[in-house]
Amino acid sequence: MKILVVGGGGREHALAWKLAQSPRVREVIVAPGNAGTGLERRMRNAEVAATDIDGLLALAQAEEVALTVVGPEAPLAAGIVDRFQDAGLRCFGPGAAAAELEASKAFSKEFMARHGIASASYAVFDTLEPALIHVGRQGVPIVVKADGLAAGKGVTVATTLAQAEAAVRACFSGRYGKAGARVVIEELVSGEEASYIVIADGDRYLALASSQDHKRLGEADTGPNTGGMGAYSPTPLITPALAERIEQDIIAPALAGLEAEGRRFTGFLYAGLMIDDDGTPRVLEFNVRLGDPESQPILMRLRSDLLDLIEAALEGQLDQVDVTWDQRPCLGIVMAAAGYPDKARTGDPILGLDSLEENPDIKVFHGGTANNLMGDVVTAGGRVLTVCALGKDIAAARGQAVNTANAITFEGAQFRNDIGWHAIIRGLGDLFA
Ligand SMILES: Nc1ncnc2c1ncn2[C@@H]1O[C@H](COP(=O)(O)OP(=O)(O)O)[C@@H](O)[C@H]1O
Ligand SMILES: [Mg+2]
Repeated sequence: MKILVVGGGGREHALAWKLAQSPRVREVIVAPGNAGTGLERRMRNAEVAATDIDGLLALAQAEEVALTVVGPEAPLAAGIVDRFQDAGLRCFGPGAAAAELEASKAFSKEFMARHGIASASYAVFDTLEPALIHVGRQGVPIVVKADGLAAGKGVTVATTLAQAEAAVRACFSGRYGKAGARVVIEELVSGEEASYIVIADGDRYLALASSQDHKRLGEADTGPNTGGMGAYSPTPLITPALAERIEQDIIAPALAGLEAEGRRFTGFLYAGLMIDDDGTPRVLEFNVRLGDPESQPILMRLRSDLLDLIEAALEGQLDQVDVTWDQRPCLGIVMAAAGYPDKARTGDPILGLDSLEENPDIKVFHGGTANNLMGDVVTAGGRVLTVCALGKDIAAARGQAVNTANAITFEGAQFRNDIGWHAIIRGLGDLFA
């Protein structure tokens, strides 16, 4: 069959790459894709933007695709799944009503409160003055969030009152457009972050392998927040006992709550978690799609046929499938463009991709890449590549990924050498315990 993958980042390259391995898939069309998806076997790009729902629907119909898989949140929040279903096409992801869990942080917080899902305490404001008074009363540290989708740029973890007030003002000044018209102000919760993603259909779900993202630009988790500078899977932070607790206390009530509120969820449900020192998980946010860059290492470890899992979800048969994983961890390092995360410079030629050794344990997923007029691969976005490696342990996987990243060059490339450091330090601690 023919499959359409919507999006053009590293997550979508990994999704398309994994789906193209299914013996039942003849071709994967990626819209709009990137230079990497344009090079893969049984894969082709279509020049339709991920937010152009009319264009995507027309493409799916013209190409007679049997299934569409949606990567990013924006088309999900805009109702792509509802539109495709109305037209009689299979499209994997939540409808707009369920996607509100990500698209409105205020909705999400109120939803969690209604269903007893542990999360930071919060208040929601529609106007500037009361928000500023609240910040003044609460003091710092405090977390200020634009309500709507802000492409990972709407959250400020403020350590001074001036920062907190500036963040509140920025939201109401229209910096995030409609997304900032409401503001969620949260208590800062401490601990270590982890991601827990399931493939879900109503109240049935199948957990994917755990992972940990690295949000800060700089090594040792310093510098500004980004869309994610690297990830690895699984994370030793999530023990089997903790996974059970996350499923019981967070995933199951979230799915049941959505169903009970008439917002039945089908798709990838992502819980962004803070695990405190006592091992108690709290939800920082839900996403209604796979994470980027977490998907890249997760999908590299997935042994099962992804198409089988998605079809089982669409057919209400998730309880009848098993999922198998490569037992080795996988670690992905994001190579970001010069200037990222402020303003990424584009058009820099990327060298070294062609001379990488053939190795089934290493894969370079493209994100912000394009071909210039000469056909060379150049940077075209903030997060350019995710260099992934499987290894016997996280340290070995990191070593392989770092070596590979060092063999790829472009002007101003930024990447972290310390992805996985929490797990590596924890491992050393265990060794000396
Ligand atoms: N209540 C909180 N306490 C501490 N850190 C937080 C809190 N909320 C968010 N953060 C930090 O900010 C990052 C982004 O927040 P998140 O809610 O995931 O929004 P988004 O991913 O939409 O930008 C989180 O990954 C986490 O590092
Ligand atoms: Mg997040």
